[in-house]
Amino acid sequence: MAVLEDRFGRTFPYLRLSVIEACNFRCSYCLPDGFHARPERPQPLGREEIARLLRGFAEVGLSKLRLTGGEPSLRRDLPEIIASAAAVGGIERIALTTNGTLLDRRVARWREAGLTNLNVSVDALERARFHAITGHDRLDEILRGIELARGLGFAAIKLNAVLLKGLNDDQLPAWLDYLRERDVSLRFIELMRTGDNAAYFQRHHLRAEALEAQLRETGWSLLARAADAGPAREYAHPDYAGRIGIIAPYSKDFCAGCNRLRVTHTGDLRLCLFGNVGIPLRPWLQDDADRDRLVAALRAQLGLKAIGHRLQQGETGMTANLSTIGG
Ligand code: GTP
Ligand code: 5AD
Ligand code: SF4
Repeated sequence: MAVLEDRFGRTFPYLRLSVIEACNFRCSYCLPDGFHARPERPQPLGREEIARLLRGFAEVGLSKLRLTGGEPSLRRDLPEIIASAAAVGGIERIALTTNGTLLDRRVARWREAGLTNLNVSVDALERARFHAITGHDRLDEILRGIELARGLGFAAIKLNAVLLKGLNDDQLPAWLDYLRERDVSLRFIELMRTGDNAAYFQRHHLRAEALEAQLRETGWSLLARAADAGPAREYAHPDYAGRIGIIAPYSKDFCAGCNRLRVTHTGDLRLCLFGNVGIPLRPWLQDDADRDRLVAALRAQLGLKAIGHRLQQGETGMTANLSTIGG
């Protein structure tokens, strides 16, 4: 069957599926006012619904799945979700984005179940800084979990640090020490403005340009972008086992290579991280016989995907924070 393609010629082999809304961290950039309890919490997609969704997407070209949240490791059946994704033909990469909470205890099981790629948020390498940003003093166990994961043969391990003026913009030397012997990719992410973090954004948003210039001046060179690459510009250095990536969503042309779609934990299709509408797919996930309808719905919706996101116009769409959509 023909792969999913939008009217700008972009194809979508990459799905980011949020499996749970809850998160056990309170990162200041994501939830600057703390967590907003919602009066009613709709049930997240069940395993059968997820399996039907993935089989539908696989029919139209899905080759990379990323599981997000909230915090996906809070879902007890995460190993089973991973295993059922691995059983769907065509999904070559199964990735997870986690805050690292349960990494040291669970990562071996996830890997056995079929997880191939792992991204972990680590906003600072200094304990006090880490605590101030995330509200948790758990840096040591997260770093232990990463060391454990490094021995498990993942295709790639990436670490994410949101770049925050005044909070972690002096951590490069510590990161360079860390990356000298470790073959992981650290990505600095420019803070994105969301519905919840406008004042925080004013105080802490920092463009990555100066950091990128510093990297180039110190012997880091930009790697060619692979066809199926994520959003980061990646740099390598002959003296370092690790790489450094920059995710700069405010830069020109960031969206031109967009290759991803999102589905929320309740089964709504989101065409863009900063879009306005969620299209419910759940009605087509109740019966295997609805596969053609699901695929038809995906094709019809893709016609509505815009060329770029709203951030560059200073808007956030309906994105209150990234914990509800998984980034
Ligand atoms: P890889 O495919 O491994 O490179 O993953 P990734 O970087 O897409 O995934 P991850 O979940 O680690 O996200 C890292 C950061 O990139 C988060 O802040 C995401 O919100 C952001 N991000 C990922 N995809 C997009 C996107 O399509 N648009 C925007 N604006 N940000 C994105
Ligand atoms: N801007 C940039 N990155 C963010 N993340 C969460 N909220 C924001 C934001 N407002 C990051 C997390 C995690 C990834 C999925 O998204 O730190 O690494
Ligand atoms: Fe794609 Fe939207 Fe992300 Fe841009 S912001 S890369 S269009 S999902």
